Amino acid sequence: MCGIIGYVSEGDCCGALFDALRRLEYRGYDSAGIAVLGEKGFSVCKKQGGVSNLASFYAAGNTGVGHTRWATHGAPSDKNAHPHRAGKIALVHNGIVENYAALKAELEADGELFLSETDSEVIAKLISRAYRGDLLRAVHAALGRAEGAYAVAVIAEDRPGEIVAARYKSPLIAGCGREGLFVCSDIPAVAAGAGYIAKAEDGEFVRIADGEICFYDRDLRPVPKVFFRPQADLGAAPSDAGGYCMRREIGEIPAALRRTFCALEKTDFAPCARALRGAKRIFAVACGTAYHSALAFRDAAERDVGVPVLCCTAGEFRYRPPLTERGDLVVAVSQSGETADTLEAVRLAKERGGYVVAVTNAGCSSLASLADFTLVMRAGAEIAVAATKSYNCQLLCLWYLAAEMLFFKRQKYPDWFSSLQKLPSAAEETISLFSEIDRIADSLKDAAAMYFLGRGADECTAREGALKVKEIACVFAEGLAAGELKHGPLALVREGFPVFMTATQPPLFKKCENALAEVRSRGGFAALFSQSEEALSQSCADVKVRLPALPAALMPCIAVIPLQYFAYRMCLERGLDPDKPKNLAKSVTVE
Ligand code: G6P
Repeated sequence: MCGIIGYVSEGDCCGALFDALRRLEYRGYDSAGIAVLGEKGFSVCKKQGGVSNLASFYAAGNTGVGHTRWATHGAPSDKNAHPHRAGKIALVHNGIVENYAALKAELEADGELFLSETDSEVIAKLISRAYRGDLLRAVHAALGRAEGAYAVAVIAEDRPGEIVAARYKSPLIAGCGREGLFVCSDIPAVAAGAGYIAKAEDGEFVRIADGEICFYDRDLRPVPKVFFRPQADLGAAPSDAGGYCMRREIGEIPAALRRTFCALEKTDFAPCARALRGAKRIFAVACGTAYHSALAFRDAAERDVGVPVLCCTAGEFRYRPPLTERGDLVVAVSQSGETADTLEAVRLAKERGGYVVAVTNAGCSSLASLADFTLVMRAGAEIAVAATKSYNCQLLCLWYLAAEMLFFKRQKYPDWFSSLQKLPSAAEETISLFSEIDRIADSLKDAAAMYFLGRGADECTAREGALKVKEIACVFAEGLAAGELKHGPLALVREGFPVFMTATQPPLFKKCENALAEVRSRGGFAALFSQSEEALSQSCADVKVRLPALPAALMPCIAVIPLQYFAYRMCLERGLDPDKPKNLAKSVTVE
């Protein structure tokens, strides 16, 4: 997804724009651009590649917009990079204009020439044609014709000191920072330096002019806003702050778990007690890594609370038969709280009467606004595209939620509840195992494909391990319930084929060992991760990694850490940048 920023600053805005773009880079890094409005009009620099390509650009002027792109329409290139110019207008856009082809055809028929292949340039043209000196009205008129999703920031050559921005289904905030007044797509990019911010809602417009920030509704009537201080721990450090963000963030897992546990202990669950007590079934919706934490939640909620949990990837939820009804609990998990598919699933679930509990890292996100009750994990800023510490914190939050459900239903906490606070030190112990993982990564650096297996509560770990390896190391990896190995996937196992088995659930040790024996007897390379001395000593695996021991129900939070680190190491072995995986973006704000 794209990151957008607009500044009206006290002095020149170029440095503030560049700094914000570095912090926004996790939203897309295939091209970036800046437009600054100075005394002689616009100075624009836009380039394919990362934000660092703009480092040598400087232009005087206090009004400007910037963009970092994750291409949807039009390949990554200089000409498709934003800002887009049209007449007196410069525009940056995040989202997808779904009717852009029809609009473009109409504009071309009327003589407009397009310089890019993007949907965004269509909006710039429409605004330019509507512009008669009132930028707010021109943006309003142009967006009235756009279908799809957008957050835009627009400046006009003859309106220094003014930015107009608008939002529909793509996040947008406005606020005041050390450098001046800004609009931005993301809180983390500005949280560190921001004084106060306010969020635009769908259909709203923002105008920065005359040193003020004003919000307007879809009919351009002023909307009063509550400005608030953003969560300081969300302040994102750019990826070049020293070392790779992904490695730093894996190292932060123990501290993130500690903070999250403290926050959970202070959370008052009473407002959602009725919903937790009454729920006869649960729908868990999320995408990517967050979906894997939903799988871990299912395990705990079904086993300990006795409530069936239907896990559904958010992108599919809305296309399934509409079964959610009043009284159902809907648990929506999202690190960013801005993933479009998850937000749509939540909107639909609410329309159908479901009670939504959100688990997110961003207490002021769109998801938090939509949900009936929000659990804010305290993972801190997570910049690397591949989620790591947020996953561990999601597990903690979701298990805590399951424990609260049990309490409200039966007035009793599961035994493992008190053990949750042991997670941070167990995570620390796990990190000390990384030299063993270095050796495994070194020996497998040329592998073309691999399997990750686990049964019961370990299946989510297997899936998450495989996802990390795919995302970061660009190696084909599949995460499977170990019992499925013999139902097809075994066909690929041959000499040296790597299979990672996570076995932390005592009743399933023997079954896991059977699967490893099947792998070994075909010459495959087997690695076993377990906390059980017995399981390890009796295993035929080539490599055995002993995990710290915790109650089995909590092991997924620990067992995933070596796999997160393994993916990181594989990525380095292959000469790739773990913070900027190919084709991906951290926060996917289009459906
Ligand atoms: C993208 C990222 C994944 C992430 C998923 C869900 O696909 O590449 O790493 O897990 O979005 O993100 P969320 O912010 O909703 O947890």
